[in-house]
Amino acid sequence: MRINDNVTWVGKNDWELRKFHGDEYSTHKGSTYNSYLIKDEKNVLIDTVWMPFGKEFVENLKKEIDLKDIDYIVINHAEVDHSGALIELMREIPDTPIYCTAMGVKSLKGHYHQDWNYVPVKTGDKLNIGKRDLVFIEARMLHWPDTMFTYMTEDNILFSTDGFGQHFCSEKLFNDLVDKAEIDQEAIKYYANILTPFSTFVGKKIEEILSLNLPLDMICPSHGMIWRENPTEIVEKYMKWCNDYQENQITIVYDTMWDSTRRMAEEIARGITSKDKDVEVKIFNISKADKNDVITEIFKSKALVMGSSTINNGILSKVAALIEEIKGMKFKNKKAYSFGSYGWSGEAPKIIAEELEKAGFISEVKGLKSNWVPDGEELKNSFEYGVMIASNK
Ligand code: FEO
Repeated sequence: MRINDNVTWVGKNDWELRKFHGDEYSTHKGSTYNSYLIKDEKNVLIDTVWMPFGKEFVENLKKEIDLKDIDYIVINHAEVDHSGALIELMREIPDTPIYCTAMGVKSLKGHYHQDWNYVPVKTGDKLNIGKRDLVFIEARMLHWPDTMFTYMTEDNILFSTDGFGQHFCSEKLFNDLVDKAEIDQEAIKYYANILTPFSTFVGKKIEEILSLNLPLDMICPSHGMIWRENPTEIVEKYMKWCNDYQENQITIVYDTMWDSTRRMAEEIARGITSKDKDVEVKIFNISKADKNDVITEIFKSKALVMGSSTINNGILSKVAALIEEIKGMKFKNKKAYSFGSYGWSGEAPKIIAEELEKAGFISEVKGLKSNWVPDGEELKNSFEYGVMIASNK
């Protein structure tokens, strides 16, 4: 598929993909592994595809170009979903130079144990390919230490690897040809789940790139659609997302054994809404909802209200797993509240509050406990807890 007269998309659409990073990330809409072939006086391949599609990738690439005519390969990021087809490709063109960062060399060697013709590059290094230059920009921790972006002059294209990506599959290739709401949702989910821990690096890198005053006509990420229409919109969104992002939203997440904690959750939500008609309240049972979708909602929230029944003096395992995951997210500037029903000991709200505090949440308010099945009075307490949450600006 042509990007323009000189750049062709030679990637792979993976419509089947439903889980990514092992079982860690849900991909309801599939994904794409974007690889780009640039033809100028020199021909350049930017990134490849995931290893299972290596043979198919090389066969398709041969329809576009005699592999021997590929002068340079650029690997912006060595994770296997982008470098995985190198094994197949390098069997055919073993001496072709591979441009990547020094960390990229380390990472590629670590993955494939091959002494290919690596050319390490740093920020500002240029590779002239005829009418165009490729300018390399290291983008450490966006989201791996090896990551870099490649900017192409003349066509003003930023090849941004995972940055600005979305796990979204379509045959259409460009953002202006697909449903905007769908890719915007996948873009924020991608940021929330993959890039949040590195938000400081994201902000600094974008400021650095903006200070170069490079004209920008397209952003070509390595997953999902190419940002052709209004490419700066996603850059502006990233600037917001990396800066302790929150909307006027409160998310309630719980797990429940016999519905008592669920009833508390719903009553807390009613209390919040009774006090503040404008705030968006969303409720998820974490044992039924998709973990990555829930994390996206927590990312958008100003407060998280988390509940669990008490079991064996502890909390339910799905709640514990979610807390473990969000610890790694390093969310900032979000309040946390806890609740849960119990029969005998009732430790869950205290444990949740302590753990969320360790995860960086602001957890100043004592959790709400409810003994046995909440009746009228106890449900009223949940309602009032919600009112208090909405009042605690
Ligand atoms: Fe899409 Fe970090 O690989």
